[in-house]
Amino acid sequence: MTSITSKAYTIHFEGAQFKALKQFLKSKSFSSYFILCDENTLHNCLPLLITACPVLAEAEIIEIESGETNKSLDIASLIWQSLLEQGADRSCLLINLGGGVVSDLGGFCASVYKRGIPFIHIPTSSLAMADASVGGKTGIDFAGIKNSIGTFQEPEGVFIYTGFLQTLPLRHLQNGLAEIYKIALIADKKFWAQLSSLKMDALIHQSVVLKNKIVLKDPKEKNLRKVLNFGHSLGHALEAHLLALGVDILHGEAIVAGMIMETHVAWQKKLITAHQRDEICFALSAWFELPEFEFTLEELLPYLKNDKKNKKESLQFALVSGIGKCDTDVNCTLIQIKKAITFYPSYLND
Ligand SMILES: NC(=O)c1ccc[n+]([C@@H]2O[C@H](COP(=O)([O-])OP(=O)(O)OC[C@H]3O[C@@H](n4cnc5c(N)ncnc54)[C@H](O)[C@@H]3O)[C@@H](O)[C@H]2O)c1
Repeated sequence: MTSITSKAYTIHFEGAQFKALKQFLKSKSFSSYFILCDENTLHNCLPLLITACPVLAEAEIIEIESGETNKSLDIASLIWQSLLEQGADRSCLLINLGGGVVSDLGGFCASVYKRGIPFIHIPTSSLAMADASVGGKTGIDFAGIKNSIGTFQEPEGVFIYTGFLQTLPLRHLQNGLAEIYKIALIADKKFWAQLSSLKMDALIHQSVVLKNKIVLKDPKEKNLRKVLNFGHSLGHALEAHLLALGVDILHGEAIVAGMIMETHVAWQKKLITAHQRDEICFALSAWFELPEFEFTLEELLPYLKNDKKNKKESLQFALVSGIGKCDTDVNCTLIQIKKAITFYPSYLND
């Protein structure tokens, strides 16, 4: 696979030898290495990485517990504490070895520790490879609101080795597919038509190509980048609502439900035809197992109101406007959102 150059860094597609990573480490003179991982990537991915790249055997390991609840200020504090105690200076390198939780959290910690230290991502989940490790967004969840504290900070490089996916549980593999299908739907008609025939490596590569093109044009999400939020207004609200109830829901699972509901809003707004609405919803419900939960507008509303895309009092969504196209800053009424929430159960799997 060919490497993809982003603004100030390169997204490398690696083989088991991690040639690009070894070259990168050789070309810089970092004072020390720190590897952030969780218990799963420590066990499944770190040994492979160190075998391929023996210089990393001297790295200090910072291990966190896996799971979204650890993308928090408390865990960020522990990471900063650990960096301080182990003498991390501004010339050290933080290596985020993990899924989106590790890359968001590690990127955030690095972006503010001593006013910023270099970091790289070595994503190990399909979601992190296809989406979270690209685009320079870092962050933590705060006060029950996802990604409410964070920075835009680009890594020094991203090194994707899809061999890590061999140990990723199937449910998490599917989770990453949700963002891949989303980007095809909003940005590339041909890719959307090919989705079920492509292998994982090709899906991830094309997804990164598309996301990179978008973030290069609009790194700070002023305009175009907002298209990436399709499915995320209702998806994030549903995810936060269910997580607050203690329900086990993954980001991608909530986003698929969000995409179905927001497709219905797009149809109400006359951005797509009924035929396109049905094609999109049918495809998503055939490819993914949809979360089977009942929820109401009243339950999602507090989270929707906190959505960063809103302007003053109006709820603004990014909405699909054809296969491979998306409009941003679309004002949506509560009645339209309520209709979409009512529509969702008709697409639950049998
Ligand atoms: N920054 C961005 O642009 C961006 C974009 C999309 C999502 N995100 C964030 O990404 C996070 C979700 O990422 P995720 O789905 O990767 O979750 P995650 O990091 O929790 O990883 C999922 C699970 O898989 C395990 N795991 C990861 N790689 C493994 C491997 N190779 N083998 C075995 N187990 C492995 C992890 O330990 C974890 O239990 C969310 O917090 C979301 O907000 C960020």
